[in-house]
Amino acid sequence: MVISTTETDSREILSSTFASRYVRAAIPRFKMPDNSMPKEAAYQVINDELMLDGNPRLNLASFVTTWMEPECDKLVMASINKNYVDMDEYPVTTELQNRCVNMIAHLFNTPVADDKTAVGVGTVGSSEAIMLAGLAFKRKWQQKRKEQGKPYDKPNIVTGANVQVCWEKFARYFEVELKEVKLEEGYYVMNPVKAVELVDENTICVAAILGSTLTGEFEDVKLLHDLLTKKNEETGWDTPIHVDAASGGFIAPFLYPDLEWDFRLPLVKSINVSGHKYGLVYAGVGWVVWRTKDDLPDELVFHINYLGSDQPTFTLNFSKGSSQIIAQYYQFIRLGFEVIPSFCCVDHKKLSSFFVIHSSYFYDTLHVL
Ligand SMILES: Cc1ncc(COP(=O)(O)O)c(C=O)c1O
Repeated sequence: MVISTTETDSREILSSTFASRYVRAAIPRFKMPDNSMPKEAAYQVINDELMLDGNPRLNLASFVTTWMEPECDKLVMASINKNYVDMDEYPVTTELQNRCVNMIAHLFNTPVADDKTAVGVGTVGSSEAIMLAGLAFKRKWQQKRKEQGKPYDKPNIVTGANVQVCWEKFARYFEVELKEVKLEEGYYVMNPVKAVELVDENTICVAAILGSTLTGEFEDVKLLHDLLTKKNEETGWDTPIHVDAASGGFIAPFLYPDLEWDFRLPLVKSINVSGHKYGLVYAGVGWVVWRTKDDLPDELVFHINYLGSDQPTFTLNFSKGSSQIIAQYYQFIRLGFEVIPSFCCVDHKKLSSFFVIHSSYFYDTLHVL
């Protein structure tokens, strides 16, 4: 729970049995202790209390990676004190993030030529990636409406009712109406026909999910694309598509290379993927890539220079750790394109049951395969 609450009957004092050899007084629960304590005591108090948490490797309900190779753990620990945004001080980290963005863009069949740089950014997770992608769509739509002299105060976004909560957050935080396609008995993803029916001139984009959070099922992005292309031709609109590939982005390219869901479809303007899900990195990394530079409005990119030189940024947060970016790069070069399929080689129909099983399970599977 991010917003903390205080229970009135909560005990005021933390019991720290094993730390008592270092500390004479118990520490208060909700107030900073009056005095410092030896480092061993602080460690013991916290470590003992954390024993009541679950064991991450046994957490089969997590979507998020809970195990990485010791070599990668070493890289993570070595970079834990690097602030990712300090690009002048840590230019190699910036370079690794750029390599990751380009690798992902190529994985998603970017139209950007091999000798050009893809447009994208590392984020805290898919939620931040989706906020950024949504903002870009909203701003593009507003620009166009202003140029046309039309009202631009009622943007909406079309999704299935199965979307992850981050889309509802995006809609609420950034004042965009969420038009959800209702699910039907036996059909638990967005119906492309109904989605396109909901599209109107105020629709900033249709968001399709590759790997529904609830079942793991892929939505039919190709059909959505074809229907939307037809509607755009009939109406003169150019409603785009975003693909929320939080989970499927690191599965489909390997398992279903012929499935058209990505930048092969011209209306797909941006895609997000979670590095900490099937990108096999610990919690704290996601990615968003845009089709071309034109799909990310310039005005959303901030240029700051107080850490050394010009630094373009397009993220919601400023400072953050570098470890996850480095770990992501490790996984890409360590596994390469050919190895990843070997532990994704599950029948996709069975994926929904696999889906709730976190990625350490995949590693275990890999070991027994
Ligand atoms: C389809 C989908 N989109 C977005 C998210 C949010 O991702 P994150 O937890 O990386 O912010 C999730 C998380 O489960 C998801 O399944």
